[in-house]
Amino acid sequence: MVVSVGAKRVLDVGCGSGPLFEPLASRGIAVSGIDPAPAMVKLANDRAASYSGLVSVEQKGWEQIDSVDAFDAAVALGVFDYVPNPAELLARMGRAAPHVIGSFPAPGLRVVLRKVRYGAHGVGVYPYTAARISELAAGSDMFVDRLVPLGRAGHLALLSRRPG
Ligand SMILES: C[S@@+](CC[C@H](N)C(=O)[O-])C[C@H]1O[C@@H](n2cnc3c(N)ncnc32)[C@H](O)[C@@H]1O
Repeated sequence: MVVSVGAKRVLDVGCGSGPLFEPLASRGIAVSGIDPAPAMVKLANDRAASYSGLVSVEQKGWEQIDSVDAFDAAVALGVFDYVPNPAELLARMGRAAPHVIGSFPAPGLRVVLRKVRYGAHGVGVYPYTAARISELAAGSDMFVDRLVPLGRAGHLALLSRRPG
C-alpha cells in the first residue's frame, strides 16, 4: 500500500523492533519510526543502522505527533488494536500525511481472548468492523481508499484524505 500511493517518506507509528524498515528502505523509502517503549527503540535503532541514514527512530508516542504534511504516508500496524481514542490517533496521523495505513482487528473470539489476556495488565483491545473503519475515517475527513481483509485477523486499510 505504501508503494501504491508513491510514498517516499513514511512515518511508522509504533514501529516496535522495526519489521517495516527493510521492506521500505530497500525500495529507497525514508522511514521515521516512533515508539514509546525504550526496549523497542533500542531494537529499532539497531536495525535502522543497516540503512545508512534512510531510517530514523525516535522514542515517543503517537500522542506527540505534531507534524503537518511531513510524510507521504503514516503507517500503524498493530497499534489501533490498543487505542481507546482512535479518532485522535487518526487525526494526528492524517495531519502528518495524506495517506494512513493501519491494521484493525476484527471482532470475534480472537479479540475476546486478547481482551482477557491484556485486560489483566490494564490494556484494552478494540475490535473494528469494516463499517466502523469507514466511520472512523469520515470523522477525520478521510475515506477508505482500500480495505484488504486479513482473514479472521481483521483488515488492513488505506485511509486517504478527501480531495478538496
Ligand atoms: C503490536 S506492537 C506492533 C509493532 C510493529 N508495528 C509491528 O508491526 O511489528 C505495538 C507497538 O506499539 C507501541 N506503542 C504502545 N503505545 C504506543 C503509543 N502511545 N504510541 C505509539 N506506539 C505505541 C508498542 O511499544 C509496540 O511496539
